[in-house]
Amino acid sequence: MAIQWNKGFATGDSHIDEQHQQIFRFANRLEEISQLEEVDEQEVNSLLRFLETYIQNHFRYEEACMLKRNCPVAQRNRSEHLAFKAFLTRSLEIYHQNGYQRKWATDLYKRIEDWLSNHICRIDAQLRNKAV
Ligand SMILES: [Fe+2]
Ligand SMILES: [Fe+2]
Repeated sequence: MAIQWNKGFATGDSHIDEQHQQIFRFANRLEEISQLEEVDEQEVNSLLRFLETYIQNHFRYEEACMLKRNCPVAQRNRSEHLAFKAFLTRSLEIYHQNGYQRKWATDLYKRIEDWLSNHICRIDAQLRNKAV
């Protein structure tokens, strides 16, 4: 089921909130794709390129914000980002090896949705108390 951004995900930083919303849109599009009978692999390729770059930029930006604001979960945030990037790299390797498979797409969007709802509320949202 599509995941919707709501105020529970707010960090108090409008750039970070916009970036999270963009990642939500990505996960929802991947979920839609996983339900199609015929998949446009060009679209999947460009979505993945977008996701990889976008997530890296987002993580870099957010980690810098947390350090600047002396956020107590800055290190925790960074280590969870590293773990997510390692997962994403593995997932992309599987895609490049095997091509598109519905199970792969389902695993990826579920993991992203789980990441969004869990990590953002628990870690990123702590920026709210440190907003400048
Ligand atoms: Fe984060
Ligand atoms: Fe984030």
